[in-house]
Amino acid sequence: VSLKEHFKGSFLIGAAINDSHIDRSDSLGIQLLKKEFNSITPENIMKWMYVHPEKDSYFFDTTDKYVALGQENGMYIVGHNLVWHSQLADWVNPIKDSLEMASVLKEHINTIASRYKGKIDAWDVVNEALNEDGTLRESVFSNTMGDGFLELAFKEAAKADPDATLIYNDYNLWKPEKRDGVVRLVKKLQDNGAKIDEVGIQAHWSLEGPSIEDIENSIIAFSELGVKISFTELDVTVLPNPWELDGAAVNQNYDEFEGDPKMNPYPNGLPDSVKLKLSKRYQDIFNLFTKHKEKISRVTFWGVQDGQSWLNNWPINGRTNYPLFFDRNYQPKKVYTDIISAK
Ligand code: XIL
Repeated sequence: VSLKEHFKGSFLIGAAINDSHIDRSDSLGIQLLKKEFNSITPENIMKWMYVHPEKDSYFFDTTDKYVALGQENGMYIVGHNLVWHSQLADWVNPIKDSLEMASVLKEHINTIASRYKGKIDAWDVVNEALNEDGTLRESVFSNTMGDGFLELAFKEAAKADPDATLIYNDYNLWKPEKRDGVVRLVKKLQDNGAKIDEVGIQAHWSLEGPSIEDIENSIIAFSELGVKISFTELDVTVLPNPWELDGAAVNQNYDEFEGDPKMNPYPNGLPDSVKLKLSKRYQDIFNLFTKHKEKISRVTFWGVQDGQSWLNNWPINGRTNYPLFFDRNYQPKKVYTDIISAK
């Protein structure tokens, strides 16, 4: 049995992958990917700064190989992402004029989505456009175009590839205010005749939160809009979050915690008690997903094995984290075995 077989008929099981998979140097990683997963997302290589580094130059060598890897293995291929304020190319930031921004966005989206028309199955069209209170995030896109950039992005993506699944993707969507913001955003797109097929819930979660109830409320709220839901970047950190400590603010710079053993409690392996907690947490999560399987199209892990997870370096550098289903030796963990053997 494998993850993809276990959840067959419920939802796709994906993983975020990197250069080492795409150039096949990580042969154990590729083996695992083929055996366990039926969908891929590029963790970094398709972001604006890499794929469109200068106004008049695109770099498609790696993204072409990424798509070929997915096609060879009959996988559901995700494009991540078309429009995001982060990991953006420097040349975009000075744009001040809304007409100029509109033409830059159209050209960017059309060039990329047309190239992979019929090959990329789903696009994260816009990533992280909202603040924690559900209002529009300040960015070079909103500063020039207000919320109009969202409608433009979705319409342009639909024009370039009418059959692709189009996703709005964001984090912390379990928060009631941010959830409501997404509901408003999707409704407005629909009212204005833009095609939006899915809300992507990133799912960077921890052992403690969010609660299953908050997640469920978002699944229900979004599916009532007539869109599907995907969990696009699932991982569960087992390490302390600095903003849960006294005096630390969310999203500040946490360099001061680097090297602090309190913040890196398991450098040589996870104690059994924490393995149990991780397994229990993932069982609660997957029980919820299974309960709502008709509403959910895909669950993608943000990485293949623990050693490759971004959570070893975020939000504090140089830690040892254990957020995924496979260990640093590519072996299935307790959480994997527990999930696979559960009914
Ligand atoms: C992260 C990658 O995992 C890191 O390797 C990179 O340094 C920064 O970006 N939300 C997203 C993803 O949509 O693209 C981010 O990926 C994680 C948060």
